[in-house]
Amino acid sequence: MNLVMSLVWVLALWFATTAPPWEKSKLIQGRDLYRENCAVCHDIANDKDHPPKFGPSLYHLFKNEKLPLSHGKPSRQYVKVRIQFGGALMPAFRNKLTDAQINTLIDYIESQ
Ligand code: HEC
Repeated sequence: MNLVMSLVWVLALWFATTAPPWEKSKLIQGRDLYRENCAVCHDIANDKDHPPKFGPSLYHLFKNEKLPLSHGKPSRQYVKVRIQFGGALMPAFRNKLTDAQINTLIDYIESQ
């Protein structure tokens, strides 16, 4: 095998085993959206170093059996509607965030 072919194999292996760079930047975009829009009211990490926030914690939102407040089964569909339309005490984001941004944000929440 010549050098070029070995290099191709190394690259192919690298792509197959690590998240491609654009995937990572998607999660960073989601994290930034979360920080800009949700972090004032919702925790996403399991940190108790500050007084409880106004909204329920989103820590392990999709890994838990039930949603923190409404106790339904966590689904992307439900979370999307909540982000779009808000709640009694939560603002709606449908005029602020695009559909793509909301999906990126949910990808980030799902990864936490
Ligand atoms: C001004 C504070 C505030 C902001 C900003 C906010 N929320 Fe909320 N959120 C709340 C409150 C309070 C509740 C619970 C009461 C209600 O539904 O209004 C809630 C409820 C939720 C629920 C439902 C939880 C359950 O158990 O059903 C989800 C999911 C959620 N928020 C996600 C988000 C996301 C994602 C963002 C950012 C786009 C966000 N929230 C921004 C205050 C906020």
